[in-house]
Amino acid sequence: MKNNEQVKKITVNASKRYEVIIGNGLIDRAGEYLAEVIKPCKIALVTDDTVDALYADCVVKSLEGSGFLVVKHVFPHGEESKNLSVYGEILDFLAENELTRTDALVALGGGVVGDMAGFAAATYLRGIKYMQIPTTLLSQIDSSVGGKTAIDLKKGKNLVGAFCQPILVLCDTKTLDSLPKKIFVDGLGEVAKYAVLDKDIFALVEKDGYAIEDLVYACVDYKRKIVEADEFEGGVRKLLNFGHTPAHGIENLSGYTIPHGNAVAMGVEIIMKNSLRHGYISEEEYKKVSAVVKKLVGENECPFAIEEVMQAALSDKKRSGNYITLMMAFGIGKVEGRKIDVLDLKEYIK
Ligand code: GLY
Repeated sequence: MKNNEQVKKITVNASKRYEVIIGNGLIDRAGEYLAEVIKPCKIALVTDDTVDALYADCVVKSLEGSGFLVVKHVFPHGEESKNLSVYGEILDFLAENELTRTDALVALGGGVVGDMAGFAAATYLRGIKYMQIPTTLLSQIDSSVGGKTAIDLKKGKNLVGAFCQPILVLCDTKTLDSLPKKIFVDGLGEVAKYAVLDKDIFALVEKDGYAIEDLVYACVDYKRKIVEADEFEGGVRKLLNFGHTPAHGIENLSGYTIPHGNAVAMGVEIIMKNSLRHGYISEEEYKKVSAVVKKLVGENECPFAIEEVMQAALSDKKRSGNYITLMMAFGIGKVEGRKIDVLDLKEYIK
């Protein structure tokens, strides 16, 4: 992959209007970008220990250089931190530092940081402003945009949360250079989903040598359209769950040792196989998608039997009563929901 030096901007017109800025080497200017959308105030920079060591100093310097007063809260990295106790510590930190409603939070890190800090911003004082600076591919192309914030409960992932749009998202593709390959590839698993949803993204990743900024731009712009049409997931936003029902089953069965993006890529493969079995797509379409998924994430076999996966998937929060809406492929760039009785699920997906 190469870099595209141009800075790109996408405006998301949701219940709040905000920009997603995409470019290489942007975090040094985080303060300047933030100063364009809020007046100087107190900023709580929330990050994890890994990202703190890499990027916090540079973000703090930039924010202070633009007149913001910065206080920083760091928690241990990893999904295990996405719990009520660490969330409570963030809230206590905000209160101890006397952040008011005219102050703001900056979430610096991957999906866990964005979800946790976003949920803290959504709930502290019934809501303060927050900016996202996502530092993983998965958070840049997906979780930092669209306002979903959440924490996990013992019973499952993302069971408590809120829709709360950020005031700004800064996707600095330079931060992806420091990602371990495994974590970068995990982000490409989520790209596999976008590639089935959108013909243009499929065409982009099918060829070689595209710029990472162009990929981030294409995914965010696709998500923008979806979020603008259905911010609170009453309808079309469910498309973004393509591959996710089996993926949640796989993550769950693995005790969350298979990361989300890899599980999504496995989920995409399972759904494509079953879309073919039901005659929704042709053999050629199935093969084309399979080849692209392989190109993105490499060998990525699901280690569990499909019956087990679908059984585990039944605890998915997208289930309503005795029905589950599964996103199925009807072509590349054509995904639709099918409402399935849970009793029929194991026959429908096998
Ligand atoms: N990650 C799916 C969504 O934001 O709706």
